[in-house]
Amino acid sequence: MNATILPNSKKHYPVLLKEILSIISPQNGGTFIDCTFGQGGYSREILKFKNTNVTAIDRDPECKNTAQKIKQIHKERFSFFNKKFSEIDKIKNEDSKIKGIILDLGYSYAQIKDPNKGLSFDSKGKLNMRLGLNSFSADDVVNKLSQKDLELIFKYFGEDKDSRIISKKIVNQRLQNSINTEKLVSIINSVKKKSGRIHNATKIFQAIRIFVNKEISELIYGLINSAKILDINGKLLVVSFHSLEDKIIKYFFKSLSEDKKVSRYYPEEKNPNKLFKLMSKKPIYPSHDEISTNRPSRSAKLRYAIKKNNMINFEKDFVKKFSKLLEIENLSKKL
Ligand SMILES: C[S@@+](CC[C@H](N)C(=O)[O-])C[C@H]1O[C@@H](n2cnc3c(N)ncnc32)[C@H](O)[C@@H]1O
Repeated sequence: MNATILPNSKKHYPVLLKEILSIISPQNGGTFIDCTFGQGGYSREILKFKNTNVTAIDRDPECKNTAQKIKQIHKERFSFFNKKFSEIDKIKNEDSKIKGIILDLGYSYAQIKDPNKGLSFDSKGKLNMRLGLNSFSADDVVNKLSQKDLELIFKYFGEDKDSRIISKKIVNQRLQNSINTEKLVSIINSVKKKSGRIHNATKIFQAIRIFVNKEISELIYGLINSAKILDINGKLLVVSFHSLEDKIIKYFFKSLSEDKKVSRYYPEEKNPNKLFKLMSKKPIYPSHDEISTNRPSRSAKLRYAIKKNNMINFEKDFVKKFSKLLEIENLSKKL
């Protein structure tokens, strides 16, 4: 999560902002796509530089109000689309050369505080977890899918070691009454010893949210389509908040920027046609100062690469590598 507003504060803190601006250099102008507009933290900062244009995307229809306010100030230089970022290739204007694309994954502080979205463990009533433009909710997932399917979702998307017992308890208990948020948290608490460091329900909630919002295919196709529309020398930047997302991003950048290894006895064969130049194998983390002002930024990781070539069919291996996760996501066809 990128919680970008402090409690008791109306001020907004976009995560890793300084680092992102120094990578994309908006002072030199250009067209940028902010794939996860949220409260407009990055878009607003980029637009402060005169020769910039920003196209913003967010799946949450509630972002429209903030977007409208920005549009009133920057009529010609800003546009907003209430769409999913996997469709970025359909949004891009044919003529524009994209200098930078930013994805700041997950959900905002405003979203987790919204009782209607039901993203928080403290939410009351019916399960939801929809960020926007969804076809089913957490209530459908938890109350309709089989024990086996729930176990797979918890195991692969939450990496939770108690996936089997929790899914079994859910299915037994929903025979009496459907499972709401409070009930789900109490089932999880009944299985797990209080760990203290993170809330007992963190991984199961993460798994359900990923499934409800199809976050795996969103990320996979968001990366692929961003790489396709980016201009040569354009930069793709991704901020992630948990290890499953980071695993996918890391593989994407690494595999598409590698020189081919012919044999371990010969030097690497230089591959002049690789898609990206990776600036660093290690991610960029928020500074101590940032973490002390905006504590939820502590789990953020930024990875980025520069596009060097147009390649066709580069996505095949990448999609195959994560086919198991996509298969689990497809269990939603049963709903
Ligand atoms: C961490 S917040 C972004 C905060 C933003 N950088 C700012 O400074 O205000 C993530 C945002 O991404 C949006 N989002 C998540 N998945 C999305 C997707 N697949 N397509 C479009 N928007 C998405 C969420 O609705 C949320 O508003």
